[in-house]
Amino acid sequence: MGEPRPSVQREVVSFVRRSARMNPSQARAWNELQHWVVRVPTRQTSTSVDAGAHVDWPIVFGRRAPLVVEIGGGTGDVIAGVAARHPERDFVAFEVFQPAVASTLSKCARAGVGNVRVVVANGVDGLAALFDEQSVAELWTFFPDPWHKTRHHKRRLVSTPFADLVASRLSADGLWRLATDWEDYALAIRDVLDRHPGFVNRFAGWAPRWEDRPQSRYEAKGVAAGRTIYDLCYGIRKGGRR
Ligand SMILES: C[S@@+](CC[C@H](N)C(=O)[O-])C[C@H]1O[C@@H](n2cnc3c(N)ncnc32)[C@H](O)[C@@H]1O
Repeated sequence: MGEPRPSVQREVVSFVRRSARMNPSQARAWNELQHWVVRVPTRQTSTSVDAGAHVDWPIVFGRRAPLVVEIGGGTGDVIAGVAARHPERDFVAFEVFQPAVASTLSKCARAGVGNVRVVVANGVDGLAALFDEQSVAELWTFFPDPWHKTRHHKRRLVSTPFADLVASRLSADGLWRLATDWEDYALAIRDVLDRHPGFVNRFAGWAPRWEDRPQSRYEAKGVAAGRTIYDLCYGIRKGGRR
């Protein structure tokens, strides 16, 4: 009998672990487009990122350009569209669900963009480990999982500790763009960010819809269900970082 395997202490994460089964076109994209996937060292779970991991983004992209990071990009509707319109920027998407990553890769290939990379890992770990302080021009969290039940609110992506991390990684003129179709989460996000000393709301309340943001799969579902879309946009408050 071998040694008993050490049990993995499950940390609270903002995503659900789902089956990685792909349809044939996703499987093809996954196999053929791996050159856009950046692999990083993990800790105990496959979606974690080792705190000591490092990626040299100028080497990965072959240039030094403003970096945009998306956490929970889903099937890549937003990043593929915006990256095509902004070839002067480089884009890094974190997404834990492999079939969604495969769809992102095929959308990027169809859009003909070379300025996108995908990391199949927890974006909270990734933002902390893989980006220097004040090195990120924009952080996007569009339609994060709402985690409706009160006992699950601790799993919501947007929290004060996460806001501390985002504040440390955004550049002085950096922006955090967010959107959700759930009013209670939208209000909770505003509460967290309006109270946070590191952020300043760029608008008096909700932001107008960011005109560059294509409608994503989840946004379309929310609209079809009759829900209001709430956009938010925060900048860094001068002298306010913790
Ligand atoms: C509700 S979906 C929205 C996807 C996309 N933004 C859209 O609008 O269609 C949320 C996505 O975030 C991913 N996700 C949640 N937390 C994450 C994290 N910490 N790191 C990476 N991906 C995450 C989930 O796997 C899921 O695909």
